[in-house]
Amino acid sequence: RERKRKEGVNLLELSASFFRERLKMPEGQGAREYLERRGLAPEVIDTFGVGYAPDTWESLKRHLGERGIGEAVQVEYGLLVHREESGRTYDRFRDRVMFPIRDIKGRTIGFGGRVLGDAKPKYLNSPETPVFRKGRELYGLYEARQADHRLERVVIVEGYMDVVALAQFGIRNAVATLGTSTSEEHLGRLFRLVNEVVFCFDGDRAGRQAATRALETVLPLMIDGRQARFLFLPEGEDPDTLVRREGSEAFQDRITCASPLSEFLFDQAAAGRDLARIEDRERYASQVLKAIGRLPEGVLRSLMLSELSRRTGVEAANFSALLARGEGVAG
Ligand code: GTP
Ligand code: MN
Ligand code: MN
Ligand code: MN
Ligand code: MN
Repeated sequence: RERKRKEGVNLLELSASFFRERLKMPEGQGAREYLERRGLAPEVIDTFGVGYAPDTWESLKRHLGERGIGEAVQVEYGLLVHREESGRTYDRFRDRVMFPIRDIKGRTIGFGGRVLGDAKPKYLNSPETPVFRKGRELYGLYEARQADHRLERVVIVEGYMDVVALAQFGIRNAVATLGTSTSEEHLGRLFRLVNEVVFCFDGDRAGRQAATRALETVLPLMIDGRQARFLFLPEGEDPDTLVRREGSEAFQDRITCASPLSEFLFDQAAAGRDLARIEDRERYASQVLKAIGRLPEGVLRSLMLSELSRRTGVEAANFSALLARGEGVAG
């Protein structure tokens, strides 16, 4: 298995340098222009190893073939697509800007490729392979650790471009999931490295829904000493557009001022409710209590209970009793 891993990583490394070289060649001109339009500086293109997959069906296949790498392995590691019906094989990534995805040690384990225009799909990722699992990897984590070995905080954003743009503006601790929602595994891995995560999703409906799911996911991991905060961007913005519009200092301020989990949790439960009404207060309290029930034992959990009691005028002991019985926590 270890040998296999080495073989795969070698092939992925060769592919990454192939893409990087193509970006510099005449055929990469369209991609270079695209990256320039998007404002990507040469330094971050370099740091993140951004490249270009040419608009051809077999150039990577041939490049790897000449280096003794068989088609079966190329298919296994997601670079080559095998069509069952025709038996044909062809390069998976064509005419895309390529973002290599690296593991914590900096080895390339997969790719995300973006179209230059607005064809679909906008992003194409490597499929699951022996070294690549989407629900586990975080884009930019290796680069963030390179920038700061004593990393204390990471900012979780949605996209490749967000990670790279923030880094260009000096915010070098952003990571992105690979088009999946933030999983418990992602967060578990992050909390082994840092004590604080800041969720920063796009200022759109999908981004707000992602924040709600992230809150659910992070609750059981909130042992004392860890922090989770939530940063909401203005409507229509993502970190890439916003940091370019307002600059790094303003964006850094937003990170510093992001809502702590407790605040987001109470605000979210209060949203759309009239807390002067008993029934609304009941739903508010139930929702918060349900979330508290997912927190691990600890100081945060106790503090949240007393805060809920303060806000509703119900004695904390009553809530504790409900929690202990697992009642009053439906819906
Ligand atoms: P840009 O348009 O390049 O700025 O991308 P973005 O990152 O702002 O895209 P968006 O907010 O639409 O999506 C966020 C992330 O979701 C992307 O970075 C991708 O990881 C993922 N994603 C978006 N579109 C697709 C898609 O069509 N297929 C897949 N697999 N993932 C996607
Ligand atoms: Mn640390
Ligand atoms: Mn979005
Ligand atoms: Mn974007
Ligand atoms: Mn976006």
